[in-house]
Amino acid sequence: MQSYPATVRPPADAIGTLSIIVGVIALLIFIGVEGALVFAIWRYRASRHLGGEAATFERNRRLEIAWTAAPALILAVIFILTLGTMAEINGAGVPAAMRITATGHQWWWEFSYGGVKTANELHIPVGTPIDLEVSSADVIHSFWVPDLGPKKDMLPGVTNRLRLLAPRAGSYEGQCAEFCGIEHAWMRIRVVAQSQTEFDAWLRTQAEPRTTSDTKAEQILLANICVSCHTIRGTTAAGTAGPDLTHVGGRATLGAGVIPNDVASMRAWLADPQRYKPGALMPSVPLSNTDLDALANYLVSLK
Ligand code: CUA
Repeated sequence: MQSYPATVRPPADAIGTLSIIVGVIALLIFIGVEGALVFAIWRYRASRHLGGEAATFERNRRLEIAWTAAPALILAVIFILTLGTMAEINGAGVPAAMRITATGHQWWWEFSYGGVKTANELHIPVGTPIDLEVSSADVIHSFWVPDLGPKKDMLPGVTNRLRLLAPRAGSYEGQCAEFCGIEHAWMRIRVVAQSQTEFDAWLRTQAEPRTTSDTKAEQILLANICVSCHTIRGTTAAGTAGPDLTHVGGRATLGAGVIPNDVASMRAWLADPQRYKPGALMPSVPLSNTDLDALANYLVSLK
């Protein structure tokens, strides 16, 4: 679930705690101000002062000092708490054990572990502080997985750093949090936090070239426009405009969350991506039914 109060401990938990403290302070102020207002309306209502003198006010220095100092003090306390929370979510005092690069694209995510690239699913080891270096290939996106940490803008030409820490294994959902065009809503992120052993095995697999080969399917891919945008390591397909497909079959969804990743969905996606993700930069490629079958089976087999 994408909800910051339901976080799984630091660093996201620090934000949840701060927001509850600020919320309670704001509630007390609201009750105080509204209470004074209601009391004043009742106490000084017109019916109690029929024909009375108009009210006059003298300067009251003590009251003026009090209502200046009290808000200043409250804001100073919130400021200090906020600084502490910012330090915590930026991982102050805890060095990052791992660095991963995340790049926002219209409308998908690229994750790079050194030279190993993957898309839309970010795998991380549990309990390891990660420095996610975020940037964009086109417009401004924003990386946000509420359970794990704050939002971080992804700006073209600038690298921002986001500290991520998953204390528990599991899958965490997130999404782009900055309007970035027609398919902004379909920039889902899935973070898979797994044990160090599982993560190492996953990364080893990702680093390998394609795990299966199929001459017919690869010929279709290389003879069509697919090759100019996608990479499949182990073949001559080396486009970089779209997601790396070397291990596409291992991902849970297609189109950054639009449809599940199985042979039937893959075939439907290849036949008409615009039907599932209107505006996506992937064009519809005219392929025969047998070519579609071959290509869909092949891509899903690339685990
Ligand atoms: Cu990317 Cu909104």
